[in-house]
Amino acid sequence: MEQTEYSDRRIKLVNADWYKYYKHITPGSCGLAIVDPNWGVLTERVKWDTHCDLNHLEMTLDHILSPNGQFVFFGNLRLIVEALNTFKKFDLRTSHIWRKYTGMPISRWQPIPTHEEILIMKRVDSRVSDCIFNPKVGKGDPYKRVNTTFNVPTRRMKKGRINENKDGSRWIRSVISAPSKPSMVASERTNHETQKSTELIQKIISVYSDKDSLIVSPFVGSGTDLVSSFYQGRAAIGTELDPPIYKEACKRLQLTTVQINLFQTTNTESTLKQEILL
Ligand SMILES: C[S@@+](CC[C@H](N)C(=O)[O-])C[C@H]1O[C@@H](n2cnc3c(N)ncnc32)[C@H](O)[C@@H]1O
Repeated sequence: MEQTEYSDRRIKLVNADWYKYYKHITPGSCGLAIVDPNWGVLTERVKWDTHCDLNHLEMTLDHILSPNGQFVFFGNLRLIVEALNTFKKFDLRTSHIWRKYTGMPISRWQPIPTHEEILIMKRVDSRVSDCIFNPKVGKGDPYKRVNTTFNVPTRRMKKGRINENKDGSRWIRSVISAPSKPSMVASERTNHETQKSTELIQKIISVYSDKDSLIVSPFVGSGTDLVSSFYQGRAAIGTELDPPIYKEACKRLQLTTVQINLFQTTNTESTLKQEILL
């Protein structure tokens, strides 16, 4: 039985099965889907972590995504290989590695995992140049320096002898460093076993979607995708099947929006406030 407990003008969280709910989303309306499905790897203690039906998932994404829409896919190497071999309507646009600040050991016979693979997928029949890409992220210091790689023969993009960065922006890298659960600030950490960091998801949202893009999160979990969409000023909709997890995510969203309302400082934040109060 579907039920909506959290909804404001731009963010909606529904307690529902994605595979039934996706039909409620206008076909072709989603610019970016953030897909962090069950990987089927956690112990039996975690009831929700069953195997993910990738064919079914692809069908739902094909329904909601716009012609140049993209989706982000999280998985371990095994699931990612399976996904790339299964998806027929979507193709790899690019990939990232999430470099975690802190790893959590899984066994005495394996290295401590400190990274996760992230795929960025686009439709097979869309052109990369038509899909959203806002590569300038973050802020650093402006610089002007001699380019030490200008004459590297394998380099495809010709660069000048001098590299100048006037606005201090940085180009997105394939490796994104962001906290994992152990290194998140305590106020961000939830009880969800596989919570992603808002820093990571916000970066992905800002690079692969625009302000007017609709973000969809089929497997909401702790609510990171919706919280990050809110911070980035995007409209977003998500589903979570498990009622207790869903309730926790609702609380997190409520807290986030209330805090933003209370502590307005920047223009962006005050715009958000006005939108929420409307
Ligand atoms: C890997 S976790 C997502 C974690 C999330 N990225 C975060 O940052 O918290 C997958 C979540 O999807 C939920 N889920 C599994 N199957 C679902 C379905 N058919 N519809 C909606 N949610 C589902 C699970 O209960 C679980 O909370």
